[in-house]
Amino acid sequence: MNTFSALAHPNIAFIKYWGNRDNTLRLPSNGSISMNLDGLFTRTTVTFSPSAQTDSLLLNNRPVTGPGLDRVSYILDIVRGMADLPDRAEVVSENNFPAGAGIASSAAAFAALALSASKAAGLNLSEAQLSILARRGSGSASRSIPAGFVEWKAGTNDEDSYAISIAPPEHWALTDCVAVVNAGHKKTGSTEGHALAGTSPLQAARVDDAPRRLEICRQAILRRDFAAFAEIIELDSDMMHAVMMTSHPPLMYWQAATLEIFHAVREWRAAGLPCAYTVDAGANVHVLCPREQAGAVEKRLRDLPGVRDVLVAQAGGAARIV
Ligand code: PMV
Repeated sequence: MNTFSALAHPNIAFIKYWGNRDNTLRLPSNGSISMNLDGLFTRTTVTFSPSAQTDSLLLNNRPVTGPGLDRVSYILDIVRGMADLPDRAEVVSENNFPAGAGIASSAAAFAALALSASKAAGLNLSEAQLSILARRGSGSASRSIPAGFVEWKAGTNDEDSYAISIAPPEHWALTDCVAVVNAGHKKTGSTEGHALAGTSPLQAARVDDAPRRLEICRQAILRRDFAAFAEIIELDSDMMHAVMMTSHPPLMYWQAATLEIFHAVREWRAAGLPCAYTVDAGANVHVLCPREQAGAVEKRLRDLPGVRDVLVAQAGGAARIV
């Protein structure tokens, strides 16, 4: 019996991943760039044991069965195949951030699972191999393996589609103030959403233009150029949501409060407060700013009528064994 625990942070995408070339392998239509979120994490413990009859999953102290467990077993099957190990596993996982807070938990979850399961199976995978394994569970999880500011190169096949760090967390004191708004009905999950991306006539234009946006964003991060960063992340987020809104069936993740925050952020920036918005597959708004402005941005967000809560995170480290 071999037990390992691993911790991974969720991440916020600056250049978004939306749509796959291959839905099963989760090979993305375009590359993406993100930042890990320090302070927020998933901690996962995996124990392979010869006496276990089936895989089991305990998530935040609740047993999970059905599709949730199947998705975990899919990763465990890959690990069992690599390690030539027949044993079933017990998986115990906990998040320290609230569900529905606008933080995609699947990225941290599958990064922590890839690391803990591979270690527990006796494998010593490279960072690239871990990123590939995490990607098979959730595309964005590939970016929660390396540290700090991360780029997932789209690649062309299972072996070359993985994420690398482009700058360590201490490179830039960028802060993410996550404005949690009152979300209405349940959103469509991203796995389902990726499969719809190609039905939007705008997706081809978004994907074709991705190398240009990636380059601008990469350079803005490397140069700590907030003005260029602000412009490109808002454009990229708006382009992804334009694809979502024009897919068939259409996906509308924004709420009235989401749009109110966009307007407020642009007014504040025009008035000299450096801040910029980006939104993943939900209604909550991630407002990025330099650390010196985080207190002011957080306070202003809390004063907006539609904002229920604000979570604050800095750039976080790599997935690690704990
Ligand atoms: O990893 P997934 O399948 O949950 O997809 C993530 C999709 C977005 O969060 C909307 C964008 C991204 O790049 O993280």
